Amino acid sequence: MKLSVIIPTYNEQDNIFTVTELIDKALQHVNYEIIFVDDSSDNTPDVLSQVAKVNAHVRYEHRIDERGLGTAVVRGFELAQGDVLAIMDADLQHPPEMLNTMLEEIQKGIDVVVPSRFIPGGSDGGLSLLRKIISAGARYMARLALHSVRQSTDPTSGFFMIRREVIAGVILRPIGWKILIEILARGNYKSIIEIPYAFRSRSAGESKMSVQEQWNYIKHISLLVYDSPIDRRFILFALVGLSGVMVNMAVYIVAVRFGLTVTLAGFISALIALLSNFILNDRITWSDSKNSGWLFRASKYLITSLIGIGIDVGILTFLDHNVHIHYVMANLIGIFVATAWNYLLSNYWTWHTAKRKVLITSSEQVSKRV
Ligand code: GDD
Ligand code: MN
Repeated sequence: MKLSVIIPTYNEQDNIFTVTELIDKALQHVNYEIIFVDDSSDNTPDVLSQVAKVNAHVRYEHRIDERGLGTAVVRGFELAQGDVLAIMDADLQHPPEMLNTMLEEIQKGIDVVVPSRFIPGGSDGGLSLLRKIISAGARYMARLALHSVRQSTDPTSGFFMIRREVIAGVILRPIGWKILIEILARGNYKSIIEIPYAFRSRSAGESKMSVQEQWNYIKHISLLVYDSPIDRRFILFALVGLSGVMVNMAVYIVAVRFGLTVTLAGFISALIALLSNFILNDRITWSDSKNSGWLFRASKYLITSLIGIGIDVGILTFLDHNVHIHYVMANLIGIFVATAWNYLLSNYWTWHTAKRKVLITSSEQVSKRV
């Protein structure tokens, strides 16, 4: 088995020697190569060429017309000759000694190994408080939005190891930095494992993280949601639900202005919103799942929604009477549970098709933590 350690670099002239030395030391008994993909504007290319001259394990490519951490790693995948691919940063925030432990897991048959800062035994000591908060927000955002990332505690890590088969034949289009999320969302793997590690502070130079990169991250997650049928469906369902609230309000206001009682106006507007939600979900959210007549689907949707209203009212009444939380909070919790109910019933009953079964099976295979 050959291991390729891929290191993206941008202005890391003071770290190249040390990181290479420490990797050499850690991997004495391993067949490996180190590949730097460099976009620097400082002296890093000179340092790299010196190191590559004296160290047969080292190769590098200096890109002139391209920049970006994610695409640098993808380029590294193309250059790599190994059956196993490791990605790490140049600044020693990722301890090179970990490579051995990671490789052991791969040799046991695991497909993806991710050192995590956020499981017992790990720590994220290398980040400032502000970065910690942003980093936590970014992680939860990805885990909420993307089904395939949900089981990973450190999906924004720049440190991981995979078998080459995980990305073989897969088109990777990372926007910005988070190549691991791209691989978790698009790669082919059956097993993923996390090992705790302590993230260190930077050895030399400074971080290249920027507001632009945070914006890229949001674009990246959005694209992955868009490309994932399951994740896209829930977002569309939520948007349709929001549009229903607006339809309901608009009809309600017009009806009251025309002299209807609020009760009648409320009833009519709720029914029209339900109808509009049904049509939008039928045309957009589940446009690919039409297994029965529309009247049949509409009836199922109506039944589900009516029970949903029952769930909401039941929960908010219970919370208001027994738990004594604020009445708005009680309704919010009710809405939350009822939305989950509506989504699940819509997905598995109202618009259920054989085609959907296939989608669910393949996504279940996607991430199984061992
Ligand atoms: N080729 C290339 N091109 N490399 C880049 C670029 C680029 O445009 N931008 C950054 N890099 C390289 C850096 O030289 C470094 O080796 C690595 O990518 C990470 O950059 P840092 O500037 O050190 O990032 P960080 O420490 O703020 O964040 C790192 O740690 C976080 C926590 O694990 C990154 O790995 C993040 O992705 C990660 O979330
Ligand atoms: Mn760093």
